[in-house]
Amino acid sequence: MSVDYSRLAADYDAVRANEVVDRTFWLAAVREVGDVRPGERVLDLGCGTGRFSRLLAETNPVVATDLSADMLAASKEKGDFARVRGDAHRLPFRRNAFDATIVIMVLHQIEDHAQVLEEIARASRKVAIATTDMGSRELGVLEEAFPSLLAIDRARFPPVERLVAALRAAGFASVRREERTLRRSLPVADQIDRVRRKYISTLDLIPRREFEEGLRYLEAELPRRYGDRYEASGRFTFLGAAR
Ligand SMILES: C[S@@+](CC[C@H](N)C(=O)[O-])C[C@H]1O[C@@H](n2cnc3c(N)ncnc32)[C@H](O)[C@@H]1O
Repeated sequence: MSVDYSRLAADYDAVRANEVVDRTFWLAAVREVGDVRPGERVLDLGCGTGRFSRLLAETNPVVATDLSADMLAASKEKGDFARVRGDAHRLPFRRNAFDATIVIMVLHQIEDHAQVLEEIARASRKVAIATTDMGSRELGVLEEAFPSLLAIDRARFPPVERLVAALRAAGFASVRREERTLRRSLPVADQIDRVRRKYISTLDLIPRREFEEGLRYLEAELPRRYGDRYEASGRFTFLGAAR
């Protein structure tokens, strides 16, 4: 099951990117757990629209790589970093081209995570991964609205233990794991709009009828349950490894 990012590229930043959250939650965790230091050469693998490449480029030389030409094209206005279209399974870079590779919410999209981690170990000395442990993840009211969401995501996201084993097999001798919780408060109307615009790629994979019924459920249920502001909470897993 794969997501068509050529369709999502135009809307991607509008429903997902938030500079404060991107800096203080995602990038901070990736830097800390992955031990990514200023000045180090970084590969942003599965860079999407380049929202993290842009921020990292303030302190590091960055190469942004993605399979989707449309996502890379959407990164063009983001500033001064290199862009290379490529497949994570066959990275178009020489051995040790980078000090660190960052992989933020990408591994659930790819076919063979073991092969991708081997490719990263070839091109880079360190890696920092952001993912979700779907075995323990709860999606709250979204699960009520979209009954098949969790099962689809459980099938997509590689179990974290398997990622840790694959990192070791790829030659990353030391692996660190850290769970961090992202809490956000946003207007209920904004959250409904994010769902309508499919801010989680899984919403693109559920049957259309389920999506429409679930959206109607949230339009009624979120204001009733939360009033004006939606309190979102999500637990994410960060892995850092070095060889
Ligand atoms: C959920 S998005 C994450 C984008 C970005 N890291 C972020 O957090 O904003 C996943 C990205 O992975 C890319 N992707 C999927 N399969 C890939 C592959 N085999 N090689 C490189 N990129 C891939 C998609 O095109 C998409 O841009």
